[in-house]
Amino acid sequence: MLDVRKDFPMLKQDLIYFDNAATTLKPQCVIDAMSDYYENYSANAHRGDYDISYKVDIAVSNAREKIKKLINARFNEEIIFTSGATEALNDIVNGFFKNILDSQDEVLITQSEHASNILPWFKLSALNKCQIRNIELDKDYKVTINNVIKAITPNTKVISLAHITNVIGDIRPIKEICKIAHEKNIFVIVDASQSIPHMKVDVLDLDVDFLVFAAHKMCGPTGLGILYGKKELLEHLEPINLGGGMNESFDSPMEIKLKSLPYRLEAGTQNIAGIIGLSKAIDYLLNIGFENINKYEKELRDYLIEKMSKLNHIDIINYNSDSGIIAFNIKGVFSQDVAYYLNKYNVCVRAGNHCAKILKQAIGDTNSVRISLYFYNTKKEIDDVIELLADLDKIRKEMI
Ligand code: ALA
Repeated sequence: MLDVRKDFPMLKQDLIYFDNAATTLKPQCVIDAMSDYYENYSANAHRGDYDISYKVDIAVSNAREKIKKLINARFNEEIIFTSGATEALNDIVNGFFKNILDSQDEVLITQSEHASNILPWFKLSALNKCQIRNIELDKDYKVTINNVIKAITPNTKVISLAHITNVIGDIRPIKEICKIAHEKNIFVIVDASQSIPHMKVDVLDLDVDFLVFAAHKMCGPTGLGILYGKKELLEHLEPINLGGGMNESFDSPMEIKLKSLPYRLEAGTQNIAGIIGLSKAIDYLLNIGFENINKYEKELRDYLIEKMSKLNHIDIINYNSDSGIIAFNIKGVFSQDVAYYLNKYNVCVRAGNHCAKILKQAIGDTNSVRISLYFYNTKKEIDDVIELLADLDKIRKEMI
C-alpha cells in the first residue's frame, strides 16, 4: 500500500471512493496551491503591469512547461489550456477537421468511445462533412491492430480513440496505430483522460497528432483540460472562441490579427487557479512516481477481479481489463439499484451507461456498475465492498 491516504482530506470521511474514472479526489497540496492563488495573488494573467500579475504569468508559464515535460511534447506552444477534454475534442473536430474533411472522408472510432469522442463526429457527419465507421472490437471489447488495419480504407482520414476506455478499461496500442495510420496519411487523435492519471504518456514516442486530457481525473481541479497538438497542425487549428487575450489587433471585420500559439487558442481569462492546481497535482503524482502508481493499481485490480470472480451471481464485463476499471452486473439486479445499495454503506461507484451510449451495441448490456480504482484505494476497501456484494439476499432486500 502506498502511504498517501493522509494527503487526501476526503479520505478522513467514512467513505470508500471507487469512482475515480469519473473524477479523482484532490490532495491537500492541490487545494492549498489554489487557495494560495485566491488568497494572495489573485490577478489575471498576461494583462497586468504589476507584481502579482507577473507572478501569475510565471505560474501559468511554469505550468505549461511542466505539462510539456510530463507528456514529452517538443514545444510549450503545443500545450493549450481548455475547459476540459470535451472542449479540447470539440475544438479539434470543429477548428481543424471541419475545414479539411469532406463527405466521403472516413473517421474511425469504436463503439466503446465516450460521448465526447463520438458526438462532435456525429455532428460533423450530420453536416455531410465525413462518414463515421467503427473499428470492430474483439471478444474482450478491445482494439486489435488487425481490426484497425481491416477498418482502414482509402477514404480513411482520421482515427479518433481513447487511450484507455472509461467502461472497458482497455489500453489501446496507440503507438502501433499511429505508425500504421501515418504510413497512410491518416491523423490520430487520442483522448488520454483515463490514461494520463495512471501511466507515463509520451506524445513523441506515441507520435499522436492530437491528444487531450482532463485535469480533474489526475488529482487536479475540475474545469480544466489540455489540448496537445503537433505545432505544425495547431498552426492550422482555427480558434472556435474569439475574444480577449488571443488577438494582436482588430480594427474592422476584415482586419483581425491573432496572436501566435498558444494564446490564439486561449480566448478569454483562463482557469488560472485550475492551472496552478494542475501544476501542483503533476508535482504530486511525479513524486509518487507513475511506475509505483501503475504497479500498485494492477495489484489492486488483480485482487478485486480474483475476489469478484468467486461470486457466481456477478458477471464481470471486462474480466481482462488492462486498468483499474472494472464493469460488472449482478444477475437480475438493475445496475443503479446496486449503486444505491452500496451508497447506503458509503461506497461510491458509478452505474448506468457511463457516457458510452453505443457500447451496448457491442456488449449487449445497456448498463453496468463500474468500480474505478486509484492509488489511494486499498485491499481492505475491496474486502469491504466484496463482502457487501457477496450477500445477494441482502442486496435484494435493501436495494429499494
Ligand atoms: N467520463 C467520466 C466517467 O467515465 C465522467 O465517469
